[in-house]
Amino acid sequence: MQIGSVLIDPPVILAPMAGVSNLAYRAIAREQGARLCITEMVNANALMHKSAKSFRLMELDPGETPVGIQIAGSDPTLMAEAAWQAQQQGADLIDINMGCPVPKVIKNGDGSALLNDRDKAISVVKEVVSRVSVPVTVKMRAGWDHTSITAPALAEAFERVGVKAIFVHARTRDDLYARPANWEFIRQVKEHVGIPVVGNGDIKTPQDAVKMMEMTGADGVMIGRSSFGDPWIFKRMSEFMETGRHLAPPGASERAEMARFHLRRLVSVKGEAVGIRQMRQQLTWYLHGTPESNVFRNRCYSLNTLEEAENLIREWMDHAQNEELSWI
Ligand SMILES: Cc1cc2nc3c(=O)[nH]c(=O)nc-3n(C[C@H](O)[C@H](O)[C@H](O)COP(=O)(O)O)c2cc1C
Repeated sequence: MQIGSVLIDPPVILAPMAGVSNLAYRAIAREQGARLCITEMVNANALMHKSAKSFRLMELDPGETPVGIQIAGSDPTLMAEAAWQAQQQGADLIDINMGCPVPKVIKNGDGSALLNDRDKAISVVKEVVSRVSVPVTVKMRAGWDHTSITAPALAEAFERVGVKAIFVHARTRDDLYARPANWEFIRQVKEHVGIPVVGNGDIKTPQDAVKMMEMTGADGVMIGRSSFGDPWIFKRMSEFMETGRHLAPPGASERAEMARFHLRRLVSVKGEAVGIRQMRQQLTWYLHGTPESNVFRNRCYSLNTLEEAENLIREWMDHAQNEELSWI
C-alpha cells in the first residue's frame, strides 16, 4: 500500500493510542513487523501554548521511519501550525484525529465532534494539507451515531482536498467501545474514495485481518489493543497475509524478555515515576493467559520502582523456567 510517497508493505499499521504508542512501544512494534506506527495524539492547542509535554509526544527516535504524528484539534490555523511542527520533527505523514470520543476533547469541537461539522472538518484538512509537504491522512470513526454515518461523504471530500489515505475505526462516537466494531462502515468508506482505506477495530487475529480486507476491500489493517502484551501480532499478521502460514506464538522467556525490554525503554523515555505507572498495565498484558498469571498480575498494580518491576519479571521468568511452562 502506498500513502503518497510512503510505502507500507505489508500494510500492517500500529494505531495511535494515547498513553500507549510512545517511543518505546513504537520501537517494539516496528521491530515486530508494524510497517507504519502512529504516535499518541498531540493537541494542537497545547502545542500553541508551548506545552513541553505535548512537544515530547512528538519526539521520534533517530531513524524512526515510517512514522506518522497524529494531531488533534479543530482550529484550522492551529492545526496547520501543529502539522508543520510535526513535519519539522521528522514525521513521514501527518494524521488528523477525527475519532476521539472523550468528552474533554469533543466539548472543544475536536476529535469525533468534527464528524458532525462538515465545513469545519474540511477546512481543517485543507489548511493542514496546504501547510505540509508530507502526506496527510485522517483517522475517523464512522459518524456521530447510527443515524448519522458521515464518514463516507466526508472521506470523499477529504480526498478532493488532498488527503492521501483514510483510517476507519469501524464504530460511531456513540458506540464508544461498548458495541463491537462493524466492518461494514469500512466498506462504505472504501466505496466512496480512490485513495487507500485502512480498516481498524476489533481485528484480533491474522484471520480477522484477511477477513476484514476481503469483506470491505480495505487496503490495509490498523491494530490497537490486540498488540497489548503481544507485539508479535504484527509479524503473525504480515506472514499470514503474505503466505497463509501461521507463525508460532512466543514462548515464556521471549515474553518475559520483551516485557523487560519494554520496561527499561519506557522508563528511559518517560522517567521512572511515569514509566512504571504506564508499565503496570502493560506488564499484566504480557502475563495474560499464562498459568498462575493472577499471582503476578495483582502485584503489577502496586509496582512503584524499576527495581521492583525488574524483580517481578525475574521471578516470573524463574517460575516459568522451573515449571517448564508452555504458553499459548
Ligand atoms: C488506550 C487507547 C488510547 C487511544 N488513543 C487514541 C489516540 O490518541 N488517537 C486515535 O485516533 N485513536 C486512539 N485510540 C483508538 C485506537 O487507535 C483504535 O482506533 C481503537 O482502539 C480500535 O482499534 P482496536 O480494536 O484495534 O484496538 C485509542 C485506543 C486506546 C485503547
